[in-house]
Amino acid sequence: MNIDILLGLQWGDEGKGKIVDAISPGYDIIARFQGGPNAGHSLEFNNVKHVLHLIPSGIFHPEKVNIIGNGVVIDPAVFKKEIETLGPPVEELTKRLIISARANLILPGHRMLDAAYEHSKGCLKIGSTLKGIGPAYTDKVARNGLRVGDILNIKFRELYNEHLKRHLETLKNYDLPFDIKEYEAGWVEGIEMLRKFRIVNTEYLINDLTSKGKKLLAEGAQGTMLDVDFGSYPFVTSSNTISAGACTGLGISPKRIGEVFGIFKAYCTRVGSGPFPTELNDKTGADLREIGHEFGATTGRPRRCGWLDLPALRYAIMINGVTQLFMTKSDVLSGFGEVKVCTSYLSNGKECPEIPFDNAPVEPVYVKMPGWKTDITGIREFSKLPQNLKSYIKFIEEQTGIPVTMVSVGPDREETIFR
Ligand code: GDP
Ligand code: IMO
Ligand code: MG
Repeated sequence: MNIDILLGLQWGDEGKGKIVDAISPGYDIIARFQGGPNAGHSLEFNNVKHVLHLIPSGIFHPEKVNIIGNGVVIDPAVFKKEIETLGPPVEELTKRLIISARANLILPGHRMLDAAYEHSKGCLKIGSTLKGIGPAYTDKVARNGLRVGDILNIKFRELYNEHLKRHLETLKNYDLPFDIKEYEAGWVEGIEMLRKFRIVNTEYLINDLTSKGKKLLAEGAQGTMLDVDFGSYPFVTSSNTISAGACTGLGISPKRIGEVFGIFKAYCTRVGSGPFPTELNDKTGADLREIGHEFGATTGRPRRCGWLDLPALRYAIMINGVTQLFMTKSDVLSGFGEVKVCTSYLSNGKECPEIPFDNAPVEPVYVKMPGWKTDITGIREFSKLPQNLKSYIKFIEEQTGIPVTMVSVGPDREETIFR
């Protein structure tokens, strides 16, 4: 089986971009299967940091095929900006990147509607990245969407105008000022940029290439706890972020999936609203934020921080069928004399064995473990890691039943230890 999946097991920002880039040399194709410009995937090499929103994290490897799959929602304005700031010339990128004709477009109206819906929710707002994700997926499922392939239709402008009219009509119900014209200008330029790329039925390409033995890595966005079905609904994103999403978001059979790499931080973070049982609203939380530079890669918002949550991790492993665990940001915990891990939840004083579907409050039960007050960023061999960190990893493996096969000790591509 030559199709593997890498996806987030927490609330996003687990370090997917860094690790996809690091393991890309072992693959021929790197394909994003869901989400859109709400994602911010950072990767670093040669002392330069790159943040990707729509483009797969294999793009810096010239010989690889990168695919934006049908499950992704694309904002042409964001796409153009990303292409232009990436580094390699556009002509070179048109060779490396292929886009699904079936991927839905984020229209300017979707962004305005995202802002209007969030505003109207008041204190119950989701904390959306306001990139138009929810309204774009809503139109897709309501069978009202426009897709990337439609930009090749000579009647595209007419089709767009019909959608715009409908969105403006809905926006009249909301008391929020917006200037659609300004955003539209950049969006229309983005359509021209998209036209320079190969727009194909990527499901055929993917199945053809992988049947011939090419290796594909499916790159997830967001994290399992933000999945529209299994996350902390309604405080979630609007796509299936789980391994099943790779099948629907790329057009591959579940029978073809090999490894499912589940990536998690050595602690937890969350941006936006919603339950977060192990959240620390104290100095330790502030220290984690500062040491881990926990500020959103897309919106710059401070991330909420807390200890590792094993009930949530076990749930994510179950839903995704994770075969290997990848742990990132181990170096961030180096400054702490003692670390805590949540092993179970209590609800009204009683053990709560499942993640409550209604986000009912739970109280985390912690075990304390000794920290490893050592700088580990220069270590490249698992055996050389401090004993207390190895014990921390062993504990996670015992608690989840899944091996931790990769440990990340810094943001750079090189700061990665495979076992
Ligand atoms: P993604 O959305 O899952 O790709 O993750 P983000 O890029 O949004 O957030 C992860 C952040 O942590 C980025 O700033 C990365 O550069 C950084 N990062 C990734 N792995 C490590 C690590 O092992 N140690 C440290 N200190 N930073 C890391
Ligand atoms: P990556 O791929 C972290 C969060 C938002 C908000 C909720 C809904 O970088 O891990 P949306 O814009 O999708 O309507 O927002 O989901 N969210 C993310 N949090 N990382 C992400 O992506 C996220 N994408 C969306 O903060 O709470
Ligand atoms: Mg991110």
